[in-house]
Amino acid sequence: MTDLDTLVSKARADIAAAADLTALDTLRVGLLGKKGDISLLMKTLGEMGPEERKSFGQRINVVRDEVSAALDARKIVLEESALEARLAAETIDVTLPIRPEAEGRIHPISQTIDEIVAIFGNMGFAVAEGPDIEDDFHNFTALNFPPDHPARQMHDTFFLPEKADGSRMLLRTHTSPVQVRTMLSQKPPIRVIIPGRTYRCDSDMTHTPMFHQVEGLVIDEKTNMSHLKGCLIEFVRTFFEIDDVPVRFRPSFFPFTEPSAEVDIGCSRAGGELKIGAGADWLEILGCGMVHPNVLKNCGIDPDKYQGFAFGMGIERIAMLKYGIPDLRTFFESDLRWLKHYGFVPLDVPTLAGGLAR
Ligand code: PHE
Repeated sequence: MTDLDTLVSKARADIAAAADLTALDTLRVGLLGKKGDISLLMKTLGEMGPEERKSFGQRINVVRDEVSAALDARKIVLEESALEARLAAETIDVTLPIRPEAEGRIHPISQTIDEIVAIFGNMGFAVAEGPDIEDDFHNFTALNFPPDHPARQMHDTFFLPEKADGSRMLLRTHTSPVQVRTMLSQKPPIRVIIPGRTYRCDSDMTHTPMFHQVEGLVIDEKTNMSHLKGCLIEFVRTFFEIDDVPVRFRPSFFPFTEPSAEVDIGCSRAGGELKIGAGADWLEILGCGMVHPNVLKNCGIDPDKYQGFAFGMGIERIAMLKYGIPDLRTFFESDLRWLKHYGFVPLDVPTLAGGLAR
């Protein structure tokens, strides 16, 4: 049966020469696959006489086992060399120094907003947002500003060019217009805080034309002034991480709240250094009050059924106090050395459990 001998020696030579796993598999199919040479030979057994079938059957079984063993052996060799090649190509030098810490820093304003959101989020507030470019209705009229209120005038508000109908859009002068947007789009109970940019035509040591505020709004059937006080005292103490910082509510006026108050926190200025906590001085940090019934009406909410409080706070001011940043204008100068000094490491996300700032 020289036929079989030739087949075997050719198969051995081919297998030994197979350069990679794909070539080897092609060979396997050509020999042992359904229509492979060896399988076809096995099919001829049926046409043979009993004697011939027996001896040929035995031989072909041996051949099949030999070829299959040769394929397996070659497969192991090829797999090993494929792995070697990969390992050689993917070497890692474990003696290299670790990557330097990320250079980027979180701006103190972003950090402070994250902290505020963490604290109020823990009290059950959601975050709401609104546009920087507003119309007169949302920024003033719906908030119960009389038509001749001084805040509407040019020296405070940045107006955009007049439109065809004579109206002018403006850069919002506070985050309070988002109170209006929230009440127009949501049904009570409402409990939101609104951090964002605000704009006033003002620039000196303590004012920049763009600054940040965070607004708070709670509307339901029962919320009263004592809830407002408790909520803000809790915020101030958590934010400044001083348990006994004195908080004072001083009567004030805003067109959109009644009664209204401004909130001061205790501090001392001994030795020219400002320190938050019990001391001889007070520092104003926010405005607040019970939402005016006219504002509720303007937003389609029944003032005989619903009530609640609102507050608005300057973010730069409390960030400066907490982090000892002396000059407001440096916040927006984009000085990398300043940011490196006052900025925060990106992965230190503020949480009440993990700590607000490190
Ligand atoms: N919008 C007011 C301001 O910018 C702050 C404020 C908000 C006061 C909400 C009362 C209630 O000064």
